Amino acid sequence: MKRTTAATLAKAKANHEKTVWLTACDTTSAQLAEAAGVDVLLVGDSLGMVALGFDSTIPVTLEHMIHHTAAVVRGHSKAWVVCDLPFGSYQQSPEQAFASSVAVLQQSGCDAVKLEGGVPMAETIRFLSERGIAVVAHIGLTPQSVKKFGSYRARGTNPAEYDAILADAQAVTEAGAVALVLECIPAGLAQTITNSVAIPTVGIGAGGGCDSQVLVWHDVLGLSLKNPSFAPAYCNLREQITTAIEAWSADVRSGAFPK
Ligand code: KIV
Repeated sequence: MKRTTAATLAKAKANHEKTVWLTACDTTSAQLAEAAGVDVLLVGDSLGMVALGFDSTIPVTLEHMIHHTAAVVRGHSKAWVVCDLPFGSYQQSPEQAFASSVAVLQQSGCDAVKLEGGVPMAETIRFLSERGIAVVAHIGLTPQSVKKFGSYRARGTNPAEYDAILADAQAVTEAGAVALVLECIPAGLAQTITNSVAIPTVGIGAGGGCDSQVLVWHDVLGLSLKNPSFAPAYCNLREQITTAIEAWSADVRSGAFPK
């Protein structure tokens, strides 16, 4: 069994082979995603909404992320495991980001950390990278900044934002990021970035031109109450699970279970 690494992803980009990223937040989801051939398990801080019931990623803590990432690591064998640094755990200084990354890597056993931000985070990415930490950058729509922007609208749709996102992509690449998540930006911009940076791009709501795609586990499986328009559900697990639990409950109430 060959483990997926940052080098595997770089090689896939060079060979024009798409890789598959999927969020996971517990051992079962990690096992199932791996069995289905997913290359990268992203323990995204979206788990704050889908697993912890918060209304944004802002309340998610480093302890939450380490707890869930360790569970994913225990369920995986081969995929590259990336953990989101949550809001407030890295923005203060490169030193704070380093301490948070060390805690995540040592206590969960994952392979890389992801952080949101472009030009303003380049210095931090360089600091981490020069100290041996694999960093995935995340630009475009950055959900941890929702309180600043006031919404989850797409980014890069006007010329100023378009140019700023291009500059972000260049800055995080030069700083040493090993991969780059592009969230909710125009497909043409994502394609331009993908063609111009050496590191693999990972699209979510950014069209088909990226080197990889990532979606949230709950969206792919029909577990979310509402999917984003770019994320079709591939089955309806919410309905199937409810039906199964209803059937079991009915058997309990009627005495048919246990046999
Ligand atoms: O938190 C998350 O799930 C993410 C993906 C949406 C990229 O960052």
